[in-house]
Order: sequence, then structure tokens, then C-alpha cells
Amino acid sequence: MAEKNIILTGDRPTGRLHLGHYVGSLKRRVELQNSGKFDAINILIADDQALTDNADNPAKIRDNIINVVLDYLSVGIDPSKTTICVQSALPALHALTFYYLNLVTTARLSRNPTVKAEIQMRGFADEGLPAGFFTYPVSQTADITAFDANVVPVGEDQLPMLEQAREIVEKFNKIYGETLVMPKAMIPENEFQRRLPGVDGKAKMSKSLGNCIYLSDTAATVKKQVNGKMYTDPLHIQVSDPGHTEGNVVFTYLDALCTDEHFAEYLPDYANLEEMKEHYRRGGLGDGTCKKFLINVLEETLSPIRAERAKWVQNIGDVYDIISTGTAKAVETTNATLARVRRAMKINYFEDRSIIKEWEELLKKADQ
Ligand code: TRP
Repeated sequence: MAEKNIILTGDRPTGRLHLGHYVGSLKRRVELQNSGKFDAINILIADDQALTDNADNPAKIRDNIINVVLDYLSVGIDPSKTTICVQSALPALHALTFYYLNLVTTARLSRNPTVKAEIQMRGFADEGLPAGFFTYPVSQTADITAFDANVVPVGEDQLPMLEQAREIVEKFNKIYGETLVMPKAMIPENEFQRRLPGVDGKAKMSKSLGNCIYLSDTAATVKKQVNGKMYTDPLHIQVSDPGHTEGNVVFTYLDALCTDEHFAEYLPDYANLEEMKEHYRRGGLGDGTCKKFLINVLEETLSPIRAERAKWVQNIGDVYDIISTGTAKAVETTNATLARVRRAMKINYFEDRSIIKEWEELLKKADQ
């Protein structure tokens, strides 16, 4: 195996992507894409994984494939540099999953903290747990290894998936010989970007909580979310009162998003966020000013994304061609890995007729 730098990452197409996705991973993907440091970059639209907890609603997944691709293209994912592909059209992933399932125990799968939390959230603990959902970390291992990815840029919640993948790779290589590339997670450096809370301050942006800022939201919606739903510091009643910046969602967002250039442009009273925070803590800085600045920062981030999206929306045929071409390329890549895996496992019966001789000799020996 040649040492290559290959990225694979992915998303479940269950809804439009939001600002949490942007600061937590999309922005980084674009930087990595443009760094020129990688031999291949792949993004998987994980529709099969999305079906593991939406089996009764495939239409939702079908509809959101287009939303997710539009989000990718509008943040700057460039199909000439990044392969965008659709999971369900890659049969090698299904075959790999089936082999890898033999390399994990149900006890090990039960310990996955992300899956555990998701089981609670989805009510599967009471309703019954679909076996496909329970085992999706194994399918995700197939996603990663099929592309020979060594770098997997993901959010923090995906670390248990990478740990599981690494264990399967180690076990596979030990039993069948060095075959699979060992993957490594890459998570955002800025701790505030790792988990952007919802506009209501709740731990995570979630469609059902209505606390998201979507990449495709209009400027008016963004403004409404900030002004209407962001609580600041309940003790900061008068402008002159000292305020708290810790746990204040306006400042959490600024921590994740703003740069010194934003101050120069929109709030030149301060050189940087630290100066602004000091003033807020001292008293004398109103929440209205902070929110207005945040809205400017958000708009600077979101308006180019919105404009780019508007262009692609006019050309859905082109978008279709992009994922169709990307998927055809990914079929080749993943089939090659599956062939290598079958060879390593010596179950490549129909690649050539050499097994005939093997069988003949075996039978001859048995006769003697
Ligand atoms: N589980 C990931 C998520 O929910 C999506 C995903 C599927 C993925 N396959 C992947 C991420 C492979 C990284 C690599 O966000």
C-alpha cells in the first residue's frame, strides 16, 4: 500500500445543514480541500446510514440529498477537487460492512457512547432497537476504509466511530494481513467551534428544537433568531451593570466566528473580542450592540454562501451531474478496496481459475 493522504468524511442527509455544521466541519473541509496537501478528498452523503433510523420515511432522505449537496457547493466544496458521492450507490460498502460485522461483538457495540445517547434520544430503548441502527458504526468503518482514508475530519461526537473503525482495522489486518489503512479523526482546534450551541443556548442545534441557523436561511430569519431567541446574561439588566460573558450565547457565537477584521469593519471601538468582553464584564456595553455586531459577523459569513446557493439552485441538472460523476468515481475506488479485502480473506473465488487446481490437489490428498 502506498502512503497517501486521503480524506473521507460524510453527513447524513436528514435535513439542511446549519451553522453548527459550518463552524464544526464544513469550513475546515474547504480549507483542507484548498490546501493542496491531499491526494484525494471524498465526501459521502450517507443516505444508507440515515435510513437506519428513518426506514419508514425514505422520502425525507431522498429530498435532503439535494439540500445537503447544495449546502456543500454553496460553502465552497469544489467538485473538481472533492469527490461528492452517494452511499447507497456504492455496493462495496454493503459487502465490507457484512465482513466487518464479524469482527466486532455486540458487547462492544453496546458501549459506543454516541450510539447510546442516540438510542435514548430516538426512544429506541422502549420501542425496540433496529439492528441496522445498532450496527451503523460498522457501516461507517466500511465508508472510511473503502476510500483508504487516513484522515477523517469530523465533529467531536464522531470520535467513538473512529475508535471503532480503528479497532476493526487493527483486527482485520491482524487476521488477514496488512490490508486496510488505519484512519485518524481530525477535530476542530477551536473548542468553541467543536460544539456550537443552538441560538437558545441549548447544547446542540437541532431541527426539532427550532434553535438552528441554517446556511440557507434568509438575512431576516437570521436576525429574528438572534434578536428573538438569544438570551444573554439575565443579571445584565441595565447597560451599566457588569455582565457575564461565560455561558452567554452571544459571546459563545462570537468566540466561534469573529475575527479581528470583523472588529475593524463593524465595531472599531474594540481591537478584538477580548477587549469587547472586558467592557461587557465591566459594565457599560449593551446587549443590543453585541447582538448587532453578531448579526453583522453572521451576515458576513452567510451572505456569500446564500448567493452561491442561489446560483446552483438555478442549475439542478448540473448538481445532479456532479453527484452522478462523483458517485461513479467512488464506485471504482470502493470496488478496488473490496477486491483487495476479498483477496486478503481468500474469498476471491471468481477472480481467476486458480482455485480449481487447489481443490483438485486437496481432493487428491484426501484420496491417498
Ligand atoms: N455519522 C456521521 C454523522 O452523523 C456521518 C457519516 C457517515 C460519516 N459516514 C461517515 C462521517 C464517514 C465521517 C466518515 O455526522
